[in-house]
Amino acid sequence: MLQGKRIVLGVTGGVAAYKAAVLTRLLLAAGAEVQVALSEAAAGFVSPMTFQALSGKPIMTRLEDARVDNGMPHITLSRAADALLIAPATAHFLARAAQGLADDLLTALALARACPLLVAPAMNRQMWEHPATRRNVAQLRADGVTVLGPCSGLQACGEEGEGRMLEPEMLVKALVAFFAPKVLAGEKLLLTAGPTFEAIDPVRGLTNLSSGRMGFALAEAAANAGASVTLIAGPVAQPTPFGVERIDVVSAREMRVAVLERVAEADVFVSVAAVADYRPAQAAGRKIKKDAEGLPMLELLPNPDILAEVAALPQPPFCVGFAAESENLETYAQAKRRRKKLPLIVGNLIQDGFGGVSNRVILFDDAGAHPLPFADKATLARQIVDNIAQRLARNQGKEPA
Ligand code: CTP
Repeated sequence: MLQGKRIVLGVTGGVAAYKAAVLTRLLLAAGAEVQVALSEAAAGFVSPMTFQALSGKPIMTRLEDARVDNGMPHITLSRAADALLIAPATAHFLARAAQGLADDLLTALALARACPLLVAPAMNRQMWEHPATRRNVAQLRADGVTVLGPCSGLQACGEEGEGRMLEPEMLVKALVAFFAPKVLAGEKLLLTAGPTFEAIDPVRGLTNLSSGRMGFALAEAAANAGASVTLIAGPVAQPTPFGVERIDVVSAREMRVAVLERVAEADVFVSVAAVADYRPAQAAGRKIKKDAEGLPMLELLPNPDILAEVAALPQPPFCVGFAAESENLETYAQAKRRRKKLPLIVGNLIQDGFGGVSNRVILFDDAGAHPLPFADKATLARQIVDNIAQRLARNQGKEPA
């Protein structure tokens, strides 16, 4: 996801410095090239040797360094970088960077850089809330610096509040988002994902094996592409994608209400959810007992078709459907697309992707079938997002972004 990206990771002297070691590994695993630079205080928390072993590169800690040809790592390092990420960034670092001081390697790197600067603040909650830190962060933002986090939680000092560095996994996601081309900038996307659960009684219900992975991957790819994304999710255990607003629902009827409440603002509606076609006519208010009541007779009622209803609105958003079939993919998917009046439907064979991490999908539109190569769902999600962006641009008479 960060293939070929050259990251200079600057680590300042806070307790969260130990997490920068994990971050180094994750950045490398995502395909990035990582050059670590430590402040002298950071080297007191985690040994430069740890970072050298992890990154396979000598670690810079000082303003003058004879190992760099011109002796000036603050120039050389930033010239060869696609981004400078300071994680953790202490209150002291933020204050000096906001003022343009350059009294050590990391502040000099920030000042001399020819690439974007991202900072991941980490400090005690009082320090984060202090007006001086607020001023410094506002100044950095005004200067074009991207501020990632912090988040809330238990702090190393034992207090609880805002000031924790984002977890390394989140920082990698934030970097991926930062680099993604903003092909959906300014667009509002509404998505559904996961299964629905139709209650029989308080503990039983009708549902299906949808993992939600494709819908969540699409929500993440769309948010990374600059869209403002609302994801309406059935009951799944997927983590909420970075930068996505998530609304949890259980049944198809709840999903329908959540969609209809928000669809007027949406430019695009992507219906990935495996909505249960039927629900029990009545959900028992208490657990059904097998001995006393025998086998319950399930009377079923059809659920509303959310996608068809949205596509039939007087001014519908650009609607994208999904069709998972076990056979005759093209015939069934195209029939669904025409019946629901959709410009685009994404089809796949259940045996290729349902519940798994990868899939083989084909895009169907008026012009026919457009297969995408077999890939993991994150890669497919990026390609589908690009495809939607191109269609929107054509509809709006614009050159694709
Ligand atoms: N869909 C929906 N509401 C429903 C059922 C489906 O919004 N009640 C959406 C799905 O999110 C998907 C598309 O419609 O985008 C799937 O079409 P559909 O014909 O309903 O698919 P299946 O339910 O799989 O139909 P069948 O069981 O006949 O194959």
